[in-house]
Amino acid sequence: MKFFIDTADLDEIREAASWGVLSGVTTNPSLYAKTGGKLADFEDHMVKICEICDGLPVSAESTAETTEEMIAEGKRLAALAPNIVVKLPICEESLPACHALAAEGVRVNMTLVFSAPQALLAARAGARYISPFVGRFDDIGDDGLAQLETVVNAVQNYDYGYWDAEGGPEIITASVRTPNHVTQAALMGADIATVPFGALKNCVHHPLTDQGLEKFAADWKKVVEG
Ligand code: G3P
Repeated sequence: MKFFIDTADLDEIREAASWGVLSGVTTNPSLYAKTGGKLADFEDHMVKICEICDGLPVSAESTAETTEEMIAEGKRLAALAPNIVVKLPICEESLPACHALAAEGVRVNMTLVFSAPQALLAARAGARYISPFVGRFDDIGDDGLAQLETVVNAVQNYDYGYWDAEGGPEIITASVRTPNHVTQAALMGADIATVPFGALKNCVHHPLTDQGLEKFAADWKKVVEG
């Protein structure tokens, strides 16, 4: 499974990239707002992320509301850098926009996916990536991982003909909160997990690893001190 980082914070992206584990970046309007960025700087900010990521796919989300505006904004975003992926929320307006953008070779990441029919429609419309959310189901007392499994199984049953050469459409497990979300997504064969930096750090750690490190350090101190 590939790891994307789910953030618009340049320092977090730089640090995760330095670990050598990163295969892409996803952003959304909330994550950009969290950086304190202004509207006028949005496109420059996406270009900076693309530069840090050196060719890895970077999802930049459109906030347009009509199909025509999504297509126009999608083309503008895609022109910022070759590795830009246009993120669109699944809705009646975005399916034709996705279809039109895919026909021009623009990669779309269909987001806010909460059901298998939404994911199947996104794939059929030519989405390069499909982002089912896990954590937001858990937030409302549902089982986000069971919902993810439904989407993964349904999408993987078929071929879609748009992005075969690149192995698409790929499923991005989104709204990831815990290492167990990552584990279970990998076990069910989701292609990618996009993980916030805090949760990515939590994936590095395990209580037994931390205990083991302390014991090695303490025992080595005895050796050093004779
Ligand atoms: O980027 C989409 C998704 O990963 C957002 O996650 O934590 O806001 O539910 P979250």
